[in-house]
Amino acid sequence: MSDTKATLTIDGREGAIELPIYSGSLGPDVVDVGGLTGQGMFTYDPGFVSTAACESQITYIDGGKGILLHRGYPIDQLAEQSDYLETCYLLLYGELPNAAEKERFVGTVHRHTMVNEQIRTFYNGFRRDAHPMAIMCGVVGALSAFYHDSLDISDEQHRQVAAFRLIAKMPTLAAMSYKFSIGAPFMYPDNSLNYAENFLHMMFGNPCEPSQVSPVLARAMDRIFLLHADHEQNASTSTVRLAGSSGANPFACIAAGIAALWGPSHGGANEAVLEMLEEIGDVSRIDEFVARAKDKDDPFRLMGFGHRVYKNFDPRAKVMKQAADEVLEELGIDSDPLLEIAKRLEEIALSDEYFIEKKLYPNVDFYSGIILKAIGIPTSMFTVIFAVGRTVGWIAHWNEMISGSYRIGRPRQLYTGYAQRDFVPLDKR
Ligand code: CMC
Repeated sequence: MSDTKATLTIDGREGAIELPIYSGSLGPDVVDVGGLTGQGMFTYDPGFVSTAACESQITYIDGGKGILLHRGYPIDQLAEQSDYLETCYLLLYGELPNAAEKERFVGTVHRHTMVNEQIRTFYNGFRRDAHPMAIMCGVVGALSAFYHDSLDISDEQHRQVAAFRLIAKMPTLAAMSYKFSIGAPFMYPDNSLNYAENFLHMMFGNPCEPSQVSPVLARAMDRIFLLHADHEQNASTSTVRLAGSSGANPFACIAAGIAALWGPSHGGANEAVLEMLEEIGDVSRIDEFVARAKDKDDPFRLMGFGHRVYKNFDPRAKVMKQAADEVLEELGIDSDPLLEIAKRLEEIALSDEYFIEKKLYPNVDFYSGIILKAIGIPTSMFTVIFAVGRTVGWIAHWNEMISGSYRIGRPRQLYTGYAQRDFVPLDKR
């Protein structure tokens, strides 16, 4: 925080409004516009492009330089040297755990992987062809009906237990959503496996045979979870904070985050990437789709390209691309038609004037879609996997907000509707 001030001049009235400026530890200073309301004015910032809605110590992004730090640690170092659950600990508690802390944390997550047995019957209320994200919105929200003992948000212990439950049960619920959609029996978690192995076991195992989980694929899965773990105040995290600011319980807030994540501009992009590659269908049709992406009158966009914050490169995409190469090599896939299209699109985006000028680089979802497809994850599950990884970010931000000082989120508006007018009776309309 600093003593510097911004002076806003309105209609020639110089020095009319003085606004304090605060500095964070990194990143742009912010102008505190709270005092404007008293002057009968609001700020106008559709899409929150220039608005810092909160103070946070969890994640820092410098979009221009392609930097992503969790609690100060660069994402590439975490992806190389850490694992998902250790990164969860870091996001939740602010420091890397020592060996004993890590063992205790991982052990606690493992003890929470099973879900209340009644949740199994809850799934039967859904249609078999329901989208797994639709199921996740419902089932995660419903956790508040099953775990009453972690709903008091003013109790730190309750908040901790809710965090453990959410992180531990998300893979179980995600895999159950998939098994339900194909009419296969649900798999119980196997707590001798690590987080990513357990997820693959519940996705692809069956109760009649022992599971065979490839360590390379499990490592890639772990990296996908890790690279999606948090991304500061994105649409879904801001949704979780907004829902939480009313005092709603954590399970309901995370369900709200899942809903916000689902859209194709956010977490739904990884699914949309694969659908787009399938729609393109052949390398010979790429130019046609690139032309459509550039056409202002055509709403089509190249999915997996561009980012609101990263205008240089997406540092997660760099690690994800490397993981994609490893997975494809491990699986011996070198001539998949969709991959050919993906590679060509990537070349175009990195060399075409339109994409360079608008700074539209391949983002994390471009490569994660390719890896997930190679692992054999059905396309409809891609966004669910993003949700599993992002759960820790949501809960870390929710907890940061609830344990500090906060007010209910209540944006204002620029009203452009009718001024007051008199009601017209039905026979006069
Ligand atoms: N293909 C073609 N043109 C694009 C694309 C694209 N993917 N993305 C942006 N543009 C153009 C857009 O038409 C606009 O052009 P103009 O200035 O001539 O009007 C310009 O680039 C800026 O676009 P914008 O919509 O103002 O940018 P934004 O910051 O509001 O949107 C975005 C960011 C990610 C929603 C957008 O780039 C997009 O729709 N990308 C495709 C969806 C996608 O891959 N989303 C995943 C993001 S990464 C995962 C996550 O963190 O959620």
